[in-house]
Amino acid sequence: MKFSISESITTIKPYEAGKPLKEVEREYGISKAVKLASNENPFGFSPEVKAAVSAHLMSMNRYPEPVAHSLVTKLAQKYGVAFENIVLGNGSDDIIALLAHGFLNPGDEAVMPLPSFLMYEICVKTAKGVPVMVPLTDYTTNLDGLIDAITPKTRMVFITNPFNPTGATLTRDEFNAFADKVPDNVLIIVDEAYIEFVRDETVYNSLDEPLTDPRIVTLRTFSKAYGLAGFRIGYGIMDQAVAEILNRIRQPFNVNTLAQVAAEAALDDTAFLKVSVRGTHEGLDYLTSELETLGLTVLPTQSNFLMVDLTTDSRDVFEKMLQKGVIVRSMASYGFDTFLRINTGTPDENEACIVALKAVLEG
Ligand SMILES: Cc1ncc(COP(=O)(O)O)c(C=O)c1O
Repeated sequence: MKFSISESITTIKPYEAGKPLKEVEREYGISKAVKLASNENPFGFSPEVKAAVSAHLMSMNRYPEPVAHSLVTKLAQKYGVAFENIVLGNGSDDIIALLAHGFLNPGDEAVMPLPSFLMYEICVKTAKGVPVMVPLTDYTTNLDGLIDAITPKTRMVFITNPFNPTGATLTRDEFNAFADKVPDNVLIIVDEAYIEFVRDETVYNSLDEPLTDPRIVTLRTFSKAYGLAGFRIGYGIMDQAVAEILNRIRQPFNVNTLAQVAAEAALDDTAFLKVSVRGTHEGLDYLTSELETLGLTVLPTQSNFLMVDLTTDSRDVFEKMLQKGVIVRSMASYGFDTFLRINTGTPDENEACIVALKAVLEG
């Protein structure tokens, strides 16, 4: 190519999404593939969402509201924060990018666990920052390691709780002890994409406490427990001064109308949320017990997915499961060569996954 590309992006590896259902069905000539690879919600979304979206379909010739007034008001009420503390995004991915662009100068550092959700690294590099990666200890965030990695150039540190891909969590005490050691001028970005699935009450939840620490930025999404991944909507809750920067640089119409109305309807339907969370827990319990019966080790998880150690090359098992129409995720590219990550599906999908895995492992 004749065009010179931005130097900071030369080392970016493209985001590897879970294999799409349609692609697998086409490649392997199967009709009902099961996808348990992208931590999506197998229970769909609230029927209220369908009604709200249908009611707004015919006004899609108009631009969306640049600030989704009633949705932001609802979120502010839910969490007891001010309207001005909330920034909506085209998925929480969008907020991650805005934070990187808003707060990193070229060469500034962003500290994060290794491996991490890939968008942290991609967004930091795109903003010409430098990701500083700290390997996990025992499949969980190495908080001391993150602190040791902070230098005068550090502008932000990423915490994912529950952690993707291992499902591990941090307790309130662990987080508070960590935050005490983070300098005042460093943002602590707490990504809580899976927080609705947490069962353990000792797990840190940044929105349980009043918003008093200007360093803390909470990221939440409607993609997981609410089942709105395809609509693309997430949000950040943060100090007003930080929110003001993100609002200054975001695209004016970053959240489309259908996503706005879908999210509002989803928030109102607490019954669906309960069904979705309960079904996830049942799925996790089923998968865990079946995998353990096969003699496999499952990492403790508080999320909607689990990591299982096959003690054999997980790429090979992943490929063979694909041929049987079950899409899971090999963790080899994350450095866990023998692990698969499997998210919970419907009871039928979970069963199909176990049947396929058993068949592959038995050769
Ligand atoms: C840890 C983590 N953060 C953020 C996201 C992105 O969510 P969204 O769909 O809101 O962009 C994901 C999606 O898988 C995730 O795993």
